[in-house]
Amino acid sequence: MDLIDTLRSTGSVRDFTDEPVDDAVLARVLDTARFAPSGANAQAWRLVVVKDPVLRGALRDLYRRPWVEYLTLTAAGLRPWSPVNDPAAEAAALAAGTAQAEEAAAAGLAAHLDEVPVLLALFADLSQLAAVDRDLDRYSLAGGASVYPFAWSILLAARAEGLGGVLTTMLIRKEDEVKRLLGAEDPLVLAAVIALGHPVRQVRRLTRQPVASFATVDRLDGAPFPAGNAD
Ligand SMILES: Cc1cc2nc3c(=O)[nH]c(=O)nc-3n(C[C@H](O)[C@H](O)[C@H](O)COP(=O)(O)O)c2cc1C
Repeated sequence: MDLIDTLRSTGSVRDFTDEPVDDAVLARVLDTARFAPSGANAQAWRLVVVKDPVLRGALRDLYRRPWVEYLTLTAAGLRPWSPVNDPAAEAAALAAGTAQAEEAAAAGLAAHLDEVPVLLALFADLSQLAAVDRDLDRYSLAGGASVYPFAWSILLAARAEGLGGVLTTMLIRKEDEVKRLLGAEDPLVLAAVIALGHPVRQVRRLTRQPVASFATVDRLDGAPFPAGNAD
């Protein structure tokens, strides 16, 4: 596969056929993804391949509430759980009712998470993360940058095997429960749950902002880059 085409067309896949994914294929995917970069090359990730139907069912059940809240907050015009959100606005949106979201969550990935061919729980070891922004008086972001390239490499390597998938973070809202279920202890934290499998639908055109909408020269208020027409 051409790398540029792959980067431009690897979208989320949430609907999978019943075809299983061989352990050997998953092993190849992980064996490629492990070459992802990380701060200090610490490779501070741990991965649980969740196979047990009971554990999978428990994860599906835990996924539901955050997903309902996500949909409800989105419908209210909020970016769910943005670090700069007004907590009162989030609480008001949730108090106004979640019925519509409950209905939506009865279908799709939230309802079928336990059935996806491959379910990976990705943990980060906080003791190994150089979180360079830790001491700033703001939300800390940098530590995750040592783990999420690995997650993205899993999705790209899976694509090369004819698989699709999606990185999900809803279950982080239920981190304590997930850690208990999967035997993860401090200083491990949940970074993502990744679903993989054979896609039901083929790749579609992805919707993304043009470069000139987010890149500027010299300063944030500088001229758009590249000069001229937006892509
Ligand atoms: C950090 C991160 C968290 C995400 N969390 C979820 C999630 O919890 N559930 C889900 O269905 N998709 C999740 N996604 C997938 C995004 O919704 C998806 O990447 C985005 O909508 C673009 O979709 P597309 O690539 O199919 O165009 C997440 C993606 C990222 C990068």
